[in-house]
Amino acid sequence: MKSYITTPIYYVNGSPHIGHAFTSVMADILKRNRLAIGYELLLSTGVDEHGQKNQEAAADLGMEIKDYLDMRGKEFRAVFDRLDVSYDYFVRTSREGHKTAVAGMEQTIFDKDLIVKKQYTGTYCKGCEEFKRESDLTEEGQCPLHPTMKVEQTDETNYFLKMEPFRERLLLHIADNPDFVQPQAFRNELKRMLSEPLEDLCISRPKTRVTLGVELPFDPDFVTYVWFDALANYLTNVGWPDEGYADWWATCEHLIGKDILKPHGVYWPIMLMAAGIPLPKKLSVHSHWVGAGGVKMSKSIGNVVDPIEIVDTLGADALRWYLARHMRSDSDSQISVDFIKQTYNSELGNKIGNLLSRAAKFSKSRFDGKVPAAGPLSAEDEAIRAAVVEAVKGFSTWIDLPDIPHNLQKVITVCDDMNTYFAEQAPWELIKNPETEERCRTVIYVTLDCLRLVFEALRQVIPTSADKALAMLNAPVSDGEVWKPALDVLGQETDLGEIENLFPRAQ
Ligand code: MSP
Repeated sequence: MKSYITTPIYYVNGSPHIGHAFTSVMADILKRNRLAIGYELLLSTGVDEHGQKNQEAAADLGMEIKDYLDMRGKEFRAVFDRLDVSYDYFVRTSREGHKTAVAGMEQTIFDKDLIVKKQYTGTYCKGCEEFKRESDLTEEGQCPLHPTMKVEQTDETNYFLKMEPFRERLLLHIADNPDFVQPQAFRNELKRMLSEPLEDLCISRPKTRVTLGVELPFDPDFVTYVWFDALANYLTNVGWPDEGYADWWATCEHLIGKDILKPHGVYWPIMLMAAGIPLPKKLSVHSHWVGAGGVKMSKSIGNVVDPIEIVDTLGADALRWYLARHMRSDSDSQISVDFIKQTYNSELGNKIGNLLSRAAKFSKSRFDGKVPAAGPLSAEDEAIRAAVVEAVKGFSTWIDLPDIPHNLQKVITVCDDMNTYFAEQAPWELIKNPETEERCRTVIYVTLDCLRLVFEALRQVIPTSADKALAMLNAPVSDGEVWKPALDVLGQETDLGEIENLFPRAQ
């Protein structure tokens, strides 16, 4: 079984920010989940290198475009590497094979008489790289998504893709495939976008204005509209138009932010229909991260969360944990350096790491550094073991974006239960009396084995820390096998590994 997951490809007109880090980390979590349950995976992420704003960003720095793109490409890749994003394919739209395929797709559509040349007078937002209707703008005549970037007046001849002939068919596809857009609120939003006749989509830019792009195969005075070219990456990554792309393509799931629903939900399916290519399986839409108090993040307010700064100070897993744990699918979620620190200290540190280090240190000092052999299990032991299996079960089946925070809530709840169990069983008291020594061994064994199970599940979310924890427990790690939440995997009387503080307290 295959699963192909894509993230948007990110504009390189600035450094990678938390929104970019977020989608790629979530895609990575989905990938690790699906690998764990036996799927073959392909995860693509990367950069969108064409268009006017990238071109202007290079010019602002006085850099050659190629050098600029290379520099930013490296920067984005480094962020994903540091965040443990296990992408299989890092997209750069300047790749020759991609450009050839884009041109091929345009020619196919052009040959079907679905592309027309005409003059357009109107407003353009460089931030969206889109022409805007008056009704799309604020009262002040600005783009609501890019209020600080002035919209431009344009009067240009361009090539346009006919959209309206495909609207009904797309609506039918959405009706027949309730899972095509998730969550439901965004499916409804897409239906609203399709409730009125569609204007033709401008798919070119004259070279007099934009040179950074794929030349139109049927008119060398124009380059391809950046969105047309960028969307096509999803297909060119799996080798379209060569045979063999179809198996992966049929499973394709696009993770996207809410602001790019229209290009993915309207432009992209219609481009594909026009070219005679099947639609992707699914659009998984997420909301945005905003600063504390719901304020948009901005340099001037000083509330921007820089992913690299967090990785440098707290480690990749602190950020991965926060993003995974606190994302809400139906509304924007808040983030700040303080929130990340608090969650890291209180959850990873106090609830998970601390229990591991207490139980492991206890074994080191009392049981010769070994996992103690358990005696008969009490009702309390059985109860906590069953609760842990139940809590991590979600990670042994297919998960979608909204399942991630939901499953982590269950893990945290059961970690609270494990801490309560440990405190109530009080192994440090049991060890004092030879009569209760066996009971003490059992409690430590149960705690360590339950922690092992929790960390096996958390390999999907915080892989580096989880692997360190499993190494401390000397627990067998079986990559390549389907993961099942089983008990009693920890070898009794086996040596524990070196103990380290997994989540040192952040000040
Ligand atoms: N280049 C296009 C995508 C082309 S895909 C064929 C683009 N790039 S982008 O860099 O502007 O944005 C990429 C993604 O980042 C979008 O999914 C967007 O929703 C997401 N985010 C931007 N800001 C964000 C937050 N504050 N929070 C979460 N995601 C955010 O659009």
